[in-house]
Amino acid sequence: MEKLRKEVKERFDRADMEYCGFRWYFKEHVATVEKESEKLCEKYGGDAEVVKAAALLHDIGLIGKGREGHVKRSVERGKKLLDKHGFNEEFQEKVAEIIKQEKDSKEAKILDTADALGHLKSMHFFGKAAITQDLEEFREWGLEKLDNDLNRIAFEDEKDEAEQIAEVLREQLSYSR
Ligand SMILES: [Fe+2]
Repeated sequence: MEKLRKEVKERFDRADMEYCGFRWYFKEHVATVEKESEKLCEKYGGDAEVVKAAALLHDIGLIGKGREGHVKRSVERGKKLLDKHGFNEEFQEKVAEIIKQEKDSKEAKILDTADALGHLKSMHFFGKAAITQDLEEFREWGLEKLDNDLNRIAFEDEKDEAEQIAEVLREQLSYSR
């Protein structure tokens, strides 16, 4: 798993340096989703190994191609990487299912919740602002993102936690609108 993690980090860091000249996506998003999903697995159960791999790979499809079709690409690239690092087909399938959010499993809920929490608890919004440069564009993106993220959180405690953070961000984003 550590070798897989290292490769994913290198890929994101390299892509960031080419795209915007600073590394942020792995540290501020992927690693945060990894950390949050670990905590959620401890609290609610679920297959922690599968969730960790899914957290590391869930956005790998963004690299070089952007958002459109990124889930499908994440699944395809994820499978290849898991194969390369010695994870069997059954494991690969489980990871793919979670990334695709196909089933309403505990693991899928954990990844979706961690993904949304990752945006709120890290410097994700700041990274996005730095890349967007246009603050009006960032404001609209941010307000939509907040609503979207809050809808994805599947557990009550985390919903409360997220709502508190979102409230502050929403106020800031709306203040001078
Ligand atoms: Fe994500």
